[in-house]
Amino acid sequence: MSDRVRITDVAPRDGLQNEPGGIPAREKAALVDALSAAGVDEVEVSSFVSPKWVPQLGDAAEVFSLISPRDGVVYSALVPNERGLSGAMEVRAASKARHGRALPDKLAVFTAASQTFSRKNTNATIEETIERFAPIAAACRGEGIPLRGYISCIVACPFEGAIEAAAVARVARMLVDLGVDEIDLGDTIGAGTPDSIGRVIEAVMEEGVGTPGARPAGGPHMTLHLHDTFGAAASCVERSLAMGVRSFDASAGGLGGCPYASTPGRRAPGNIATATLLQAIERAGLRAGAGRDIDPSAMHEASTLAATIASRPPANGGRS
Ligand code: HMG
Ligand code: MG
Repeated sequence: MSDRVRITDVAPRDGLQNEPGGIPAREKAALVDALSAAGVDEVEVSSFVSPKWVPQLGDAAEVFSLISPRDGVVYSALVPNERGLSGAMEVRAASKARHGRALPDKLAVFTAASQTFSRKNTNATIEETIERFAPIAAACRGEGIPLRGYISCIVACPFEGAIEAAAVARVARMLVDLGVDEIDLGDTIGAGTPDSIGRVIEAVMEEGVGTPGARPAGGPHMTLHLHDTFGAAASCVERSLAMGVRSFDASAGGLGGCPYASTPGRRAPGNIATATLLQAIERAGLRAGAGRDIDPSAMHEASTLAATIASRPPANGGRS
């Protein structure tokens, strides 16, 4: 089994989607470039979602136009429907003309193991989201674009409470049948413990989702996307590494949270900080970065930049 662990930094997308205030596109692009300079394998740059639902990411096209792509780094974006797919395709064409490289070079669809969360986040049942994804999956296959499929609420839902591992496995099966290349398991509200996360990993592996050491031929590989509400994310990483998982998401500076996972009086929690993830990988005697080593001082700079960007005062001076 490989001793290298793939790292996707989701700070520009998950990290900034719930931040109040208008963060300029050039600052977001600077964060993307700082993360690619630090050596992460993938940067999740933004989302092509409805700006009515997530106004913070309404500038996805502009952010893509401002980044300086590096070889060996994947630049991805979320798409919820065909409208998002065509937005992403337009940006790919413009980026190809500008850099000779069509970016985003990977797309991600997102659904959930909880019906209530799925409706709140995308105005659709789980089954309806899968129907929306079919043309996206077909287009990705046609163009050779890798496709990630997120499943939110793998342990608990902010509205329904505990979620059974079997419910996650059912949705994983739908995504396997859709033909995604990667299944990303999202502990949206950071409720996971090593045992509950371990149960989900086992259940999802039984649906033909693999890890580098145990990957069924042609099946998607698994990534873990942890939010760190109760400080348990590092121990969940430790258990997952022991079970062979070799791909994780994290967010520089620990920013993050889905706006539709917030409940009255409680804002959705941040992702596991990239620095925390890197420490857990090192403690396990493994190496962070599937393609190359991560530069700790450049990562520190990127995390500082992420925190600075997020804590800037709202563009409207705090008035709503
Ligand atoms: P809807 O309101 O049912 O869609 O939303 P609609 O088709 O009725 O469209 C409404 C309006 O949005 C229309 O505009 C559309 O044109 C426009 P109008 O005619 O009113 O002027 N529209 C779009 N505009 C731009 N791009 C698009 C798009 N689609 C429609 N793609 C929809 C359905 C899915 C669009 C909406 O619910 C949505 O955008 N949801 C996104 C929510 C989101 O981004 N959540 C955060 C990401 S998920 C997450 O954070 C969890 C994760 O991190 C994992 C974890 O932690 O668990 C991934
Ligand atoms: Mg998330």
